[in-house]
Amino acid sequence: MHQLIQLSERIWYMDLDYATDRPNLGYIQGDELSLMFDCGASPAHVSDFMGLLNAHGLPLPKMAALSHWHWDHALGMAALKKQGIPVIACRQTNVVLGQVSSWEWTETAMQRRLQTGEDILFCDDFIRKEYKGDLSAIPQFRTADILFEETKTLDLGGVTAQLIHVGGPHSEDSVVCYVSEEKFVFLADSAGKDLYGIPWDYDPNDQAASDLAMERMPDDPVRLRKYRKALEQLDFKRCLKGHAPCSSRSEWMEELKEREARL
Ligand SMILES: [Fe+2]
Repeated sequence: MHQLIQLSERIWYMDLDYATDRPNLGYIQGDELSLMFDCGASPAHVSDFMGLLNAHGLPLPKMAALSHWHWDHALGMAALKKQGIPVIACRQTNVVLGQVSSWEWTETAMQRRLQTGEDILFCDDFIRKEYKGDLSAIPQFRTADILFEETKTLDLGGVTAQLIHVGGPHSEDSVVCYVSEEKFVFLADSAGKDLYGIPWDYDPNDQAASDLAMERMPDDPVRLRKYRKALEQLDFKRCLKGHAPCSSRSEWMEELKEREARL
């Protein structure tokens, strides 16, 4: 059962779910409009989020921003379109969304993508879990409604959300959402390992071994350092990753520096 957690006067998030790899979903409440940060893994994920906002008497988001193209952050876009909620994404993410929008969710197509390396077993396994094995229920990837290049500041009324394309170790298209008034940044997966770029062993039947394999994946020192330097420019006190609880700036910086020191 998900929970909606308030982090500051204007910032909330719905917590992650390790069972199907659903990420945290952020919510920034402006006086004029509210923003959802990240689009969710599925229509059911989006529905849980909207349900909790309703239960807390919070206005539904008028816009959603996407952190990167990966399925667990982007496949909720189909449900958002049905609800008339436009999605904003950086151009680099949109290029990939255009490419993967032709992906079919059939057994044959999914197996083929694993063989060609277009997709990875980690995502294939969790997407099946999220959709309870019903491949016909998986929506197509789709492109965004509003695009920006490197950075875009959204004035939500009394609070701003700055979307910044930072790239980073996880995926070249990663965007973070910085809320300067609350000294907070939604990192999504931007600090994670490059799961698609580097071969690694994921075992659906051995979570501990898979976690260790992910942890041992090497970082690209240039990408990691550039990413840390970019985030150091931002004045924030707390941050939230896509698949971890909220942490302080110092805890997060320490983690990045330790990773850099290992290289
Ligand atoms: Fe990701």
